[in-house]
Amino acid sequence: MAGTYTPRPEIAALVENVNKAAAGYEAAAEGDVHVARRNLQLEARKLLYSLEEPNSEVWPRIFQVNVSAAVEIVSDLELWEKFEGGGEVSITEMVELTKADEIIIIRIFRQLVAANLFIESPGPSFRLTSLGKPYLHPDHRAFNNFMFFDIIPAIMAMPRTLAEHQYKAPTKETGTPYKWAHGEELWTWLGSHPDRGVIMVAGMRSHNPMDAYPWGIELAKLDLDDDDVAIVDVAGGQGHIMDGIRKENPRMKGRFIVQDLPSTFDVVPSPPDRVEFMVYDIFTPQPAKDAYIYHYRHIFHNWSDGDCTTILGQIVPLLKTQPKSKLLLVDVVLPNSNATMQQAIMDITMFPMGGMERNESQWKELLAKSGLGIKKIWRGSEPEACIECQLL
Ligand SMILES: C[S@@+](CC[C@H](N)C(=O)[O-])C[C@H]1O[C@@H](n2cnc3c(N)ncnc32)[C@H](O)[C@@H]1O
Repeated sequence: MAGTYTPRPEIAALVENVNKAAAGYEAAAEGDVHVARRNLQLEARKLLYSLEEPNSEVWPRIFQVNVSAAVEIVSDLELWEKFEGGGEVSITEMVELTKADEIIIIRIFRQLVAANLFIESPGPSFRLTSLGKPYLHPDHRAFNNFMFFDIIPAIMAMPRTLAEHQYKAPTKETGTPYKWAHGEELWTWLGSHPDRGVIMVAGMRSHNPMDAYPWGIELAKLDLDDDDVAIVDVAGGQGHIMDGIRKENPRMKGRFIVQDLPSTFDVVPSPPDRVEFMVYDIFTPQPAKDAYIYHYRHIFHNWSDGDCTTILGQIVPLLKTQPKSKLLLVDVVLPNSNATMQQAIMDITMFPMGGMERNESQWKELLAKSGLGIKKIWRGSEPEACIECQLL
């Protein structure tokens, strides 16, 4: 999903406000200094918020539980749609529409204004900021919902479950922390709760689909025929990435195959246009031969090193006999030290599944176990990078 950045004139105005607040702090008399400092802090925060990429911030914000709970409540009350078009909606209107008590609406919107998702005007009434706009899209709301109900409870159980497991990293034998908390593995649970599987898949569309790797340019170099397998998107959900690439490159030839578990495909009537579905378990030998690109997006971070090695074991033999084939892994590549809060949050999100985000050294070490190295790390505007692998 393309970002909707705060327009530059608005940022310039916010810089101006910071400068004014800084001058006020500088000149404040002894008795007013704390007020002036808080004002400077507030203006500085507004400026920082305005520089964030709105779609990327949906994920880390979910961990501010007051905000993610408020996002859920506004979804349940079907209020997001009322802010389409950038207009203001008053408390009175919202009370009328939802029949909720006024005090409930006031307190929920207090959280969302403090999180800079809305601007509050006297009335009071509210309009969305750039950071609030992503929630107009159901996929971002789905991601909030999936994390809030399916992932965060397992993270909240970490102090207990880690103590129970003597602070040992999860292994295949001990099961994942999600299983420690809920008695069942996440993917099995989602398979038997298709309503939650649908939310998970929609939530995955919340992330920028494809801007790290220049698909259009690289695919154009391949000189594909209609029958060639251009891309196999392994564990590709319901095909939203392949659909996005098709739409951006409508004249691109070749077959686009999306593989996933049957439960992922069962809940949609058909694959996207010019995309094929193929049921496949990533722990078994890769059946789609002779593809130009094997693509795994947001897969390796879900699994332990041991599981990743098993998954790679299904594809490396093909790479050895198919020199034209490329292996692309799209995931975060953490810095070797000083991870940001956003990167740290992405890492802890993987904890319940027994997975992790990896830094470049950890990626190199992991890939080397399967006889692979890093040819190139492609980066776009998103936190995720695309690791192009090569046989060592
Ligand atoms: C985090 S989602 C990523 C989906 C998609 N690649 C994307 O980027 O949006 C992980 C996917 O792995 C699939 N998955 C989990 N276990 C699998 C398995 N054993 N075989 C195939 N797919 C699996 C899930 O159904 C889900 O669609």
